[in-house]
Amino acid sequence: METHKKKVESEFSALSHNYDRWYQTPLGRYIDESERSAILELLKPYKGEMILDVGTGTGIYLLEAVRFGAHVIGIDISVNMLNVLGKKIKNKKIYPQVDLLVADAENLPFDDATFDLVTCRLALHHFPQPNRALQEFARVLKTPGGLGFTDNVTVDDWDAAKYYNDFEKLRDPSHQNVVSMPRLCQMIEASGFQIRYTKVFAKEFEFHDWTNRQHVQPQIKTCLLQMMREIPEVLQPLFKPRWTDSTLFFSLREAVIVAFKS
Ligand SMILES: C[S@@+](CC[C@H](N)C(=O)[O-])C[C@H]1O[C@@H](n2cnc3c(N)ncnc32)[C@H](O)[C@@H]1O
Repeated sequence: METHKKKVESEFSALSHNYDRWYQTPLGRYIDESERSAILELLKPYKGEMILDVGTGTGIYLLEAVRFGAHVIGIDISVNMLNVLGKKIKNKKIYPQVDLLVADAENLPFDDATFDLVTCRLALHHFPQPNRALQEFARVLKTPGGLGFTDNVTVDDWDAAKYYNDFEKLRDPSHQNVVSMPRLCQMIEASGFQIRYTKVFAKEFEFHDWTNRQHVQPQIKTCLLQMMREIPEVLQPLFKPRWTDSTLFFSLREAVIVAFKS
């Protein structure tokens, strides 16, 4: 496996048991529910449809899609993330509707035109070749299959976008690259999709919770706080840093995109 993918695999394997914790907080639940309903409302999965959830992790989308009666295949590069999801599937007794597979988003092990829908939530920024992954999504979709997609986005300014990505990488070495919303839309369209719906929303984080989830060491926390004090002006409206005596609150931006294979 390529070096970066090995890094992703080991980061997520180490996090897998705590991954769902944030989604049980009021904010995590709110964000998760608003995203899921926007995407699944627009994609309208129905009984018998074949859905592929790429970078499925602990199955946040997969489990929702199953409720619509679809057959869902979840792929992920991390065996441990899939093991956490496997336990949930066992508890819910939904095996006939689900298949899980360790696989790479950039080399999907499926024939052309296999799926009615592809979903991919918060995973693209880990892929070394995101365009290749998007082309793979288009390849395995039937026409006009739907893509339900979310990922973080940054600003257009090149230097500020680099600063943003360096900040994220320092906290999470498996982070590869987040792009701006216009760039993300271009990439999706260039891969053979027509975009039907977009929304960008701000998610709020508390610094210590955000870093502890990733087991960030104290000296790295200090560097991150310093970076946040020195963010370029153009990143102020994105991060909106709010300092208190004991911590820092800040925002990140997440895009929700629904597109159809054209
Ligand atoms: C931030 S998590 C998102 C998980 C899930 N989609 C969710 O919304 O909670 C990113 C997931 O993408 C997976 N991933 C990263 N790179 C991958 C790749 N090249 N192929 C497949 N999965 C990958 C990681 O292992 C991880 O489970």
